[in-house]
Amino acid sequence: MDLVLNTLGAEVSEGVFRALLSGKEVEIMDTSLMKIAHCVGCNQCWLRTPGVCAFKDDYEEILKKLVKTDSLWIVTDTRFGFLDYRGKRLMDRVMPMLNMYIGFRDGWMRHELRYHPLNIGLLYKGAGDQALLEDWCVRTAANIGGKSLGAYAIPGAVEKLSASPVISNAVEKSSLRHLVIINGSPRVEKFSNTDKIIRSFAKGLEEEGVTWELHNLSDCKQWDAARNAFLTHERTLIAFPLYVECVPSLMLEFLSTLPAERKVPGQLFFLLHGGMDEGNEFRLAERFLQKLPAQLGRSYGGTLIKGGSFRIRTTTDEERAKMVAPWPPMGKLFAQKGTFLTPEAERFIGPEQYPWILRKLVSLLFLKKVNGEFDNFAKGWGCTRPLNDKPYVQ
Ligand SMILES: Cc1cc2nc3c(=O)[nH]c(=O)nc-3n(C[C@H](O)[C@H](O)[C@H](O)COP(=O)(O)O)c2cc1C
Repeated sequence: MDLVLNTLGAEVSEGVFRALLSGKEVEIMDTSLMKIAHCVGCNQCWLRTPGVCAFKDDYEEILKKLVKTDSLWIVTDTRFGFLDYRGKRLMDRVMPMLNMYIGFRDGWMRHELRYHPLNIGLLYKGAGDQALLEDWCVRTAANIGGKSLGAYAIPGAVEKLSASPVISNAVEKSSLRHLVIINGSPRVEKFSNTDKIIRSFAKGLEEEGVTWELHNLSDCKQWDAARNAFLTHERTLIAFPLYVECVPSLMLEFLSTLPAERKVPGQLFFLLHGGMDEGNEFRLAERFLQKLPAQLGRSYGGTLIKGGSFRIRTTTDEERAKMVAPWPPMGKLFAQKGTFLTPEAERFIGPEQYPWILRKLVSLLFLKKVNGEFDNFAKGWGCTRPLNDKPYVQ
């Protein structure tokens, strides 16, 4: 039986979904009034209590059903052409369906499946970007070993994507003196890999005399200051980790609180990183980011992308220093050029996909060591179960 998670509640009648999914046996869960937190990347479900989320909220009921289905549909509203934060949040919390171990699956670097493959489909309302949503289903399903079930607009509930407004690019002509940096990671600052990357990148800014200020979205008490800084300064850089192929749901919620219009010109830049090494992993998020600034009344100043950031937090000090070493020169270059739309930034992402021979070598020489490192880290955290444990299967 397919599981349908309906974030829209009574807004759209169940009959409409059933008609759209005709012929399928479905169980519909209304999640609109459920208490569901954003995933905060605490890693407990991977490294302390394998397969069990640290949040004791209503998502546990969903997780127990996911273990028994092979197809999941999300019924969601849209924002910025993508799932809104309520829909995306349901996918960010799906992490316990995978485990921490990394390997190659179908030619791509992936986490191991904890249970079975999961097919993913979307039913959406509002102004969705059909191509983006379809691709997101394909990528997300592949991440969990399954197939895309497709993205379908709910009849009668669709709006046209409005044409992007004409954005002034006056800021691009002025020189960069100060940069507002927002850390979009849901993980607390102290443990955030994004934080380590930002601080390394900022060393390069400082070398060129550019000042910067930092706001963390993981702390909701900082949201007002972050919003205010975004609205009153010319240049904002949002740095964040890839979460299920795009922006973390917590960051989407923050973005939804920003007004779409700006009285003075402004530019928006992104620094995107994530666990997997290969550049291709980040391309869908990059497409989303290219269109986002216009919807917030800003011009797009490019996205700097690099993978392989998982272990910044879990590795030794020496290795961490090596992992963040590429970022200060990029900060320096950014301070000089005032943009990521440069050949150097484009090259920074590294290979799109490892060729097969390299995949073999990485598996043999590197991933074995890395997966062992995860075992040791988990033991240090007091984990007493195997990392590939299946807690919801008797
Ligand atoms: C819910 C969740 C989803 C994630 N999805 C992806 C993904 O799709 N691709 C990827 O490369 N890394 C993914 N990651 C890994 C993070 O991008 C990576 O661990 C990053 O270094 C975390 O940065 P932070 O410590 O600042 O939060 C995910 C992590 C979490 C917690």
